[in-house]
Amino acid sequence: MTQDEMKQAVAKAAIEHVVKGTIIGIGTGSTANFFIDELATIKHQIDGTVASSEASAERLRGHGIEVMDLNSVSEISVYIDGADESNKHLHLIKGGGGALTREKIVAAVSKKFVCIADESKLVDIMGTFPLPVEVIPMARSYVAREIAKLGGQPVLREGFTTDNGNVILDVHNLEIMEPVKLEETLNHITGVVTNGLFAIRPADVLLLGTPDGVKTIT
Ligand code: 5RP
Repeated sequence: MTQDEMKQAVAKAAIEHVVKGTIIGIGTGSTANFFIDELATIKHQIDGTVASSEASAERLRGHGIEVMDLNSVSEISVYIDGADESNKHLHLIKGGGGALTREKIVAAVSKKFVCIADESKLVDIMGTFPLPVEVIPMARSYVAREIAKLGGQPVLREGFTTDNGNVILDVHNLEIMEPVKLEETLNHITGVVTNGLFAIRPADVLLLGTPDGVKTIT
């Protein structure tokens, strides 16, 4: 089974978590794209979606699925999105696609967060995948120096601007032993918009694609 086939299988399985007659939060990335394509098959059963990126919004609209402004929505039943890494506590690293801030906002509003990923994303200790940090452009160098003091090696994502007009520092060489603490510490650096650790608000369910089928971890 290829990685894409495992992503497709979890995307299909996630349809069971869609609550009919409600608004659904939609993530970003290749696994989320598979989910959007599956959602299209039941689009008449939902009230609409809130997207975590312009790219996902465009894909949703391409399928004729309504995309709503988060400010016009008071409740999202479930948020479905991929991840770059997850540990067994369902703490995540996200932001490989650069959409981490909007992803974190939509996850915060949602009652339930279902993470969909292939088995390569489950790790014992997070940090092999460089941790994305969204930064206000004028604070880039200051934030990079502060992150270096914490032991990380920040690398500017060249030629990339987020949907919010900011830059991303990808932080290498982190062995993340205390995800909640690191998430808080990084967010306290002035100039950081947010970082890609989802530990304060982890996923509620992880659907993991394996060659033996989809495993559910809670
Ligand atoms: C985008 C993300 C994605 O969920 C993450 O990068 C995983 O992507 P993929 O599903 O393509 O493996 O956080 O910002």
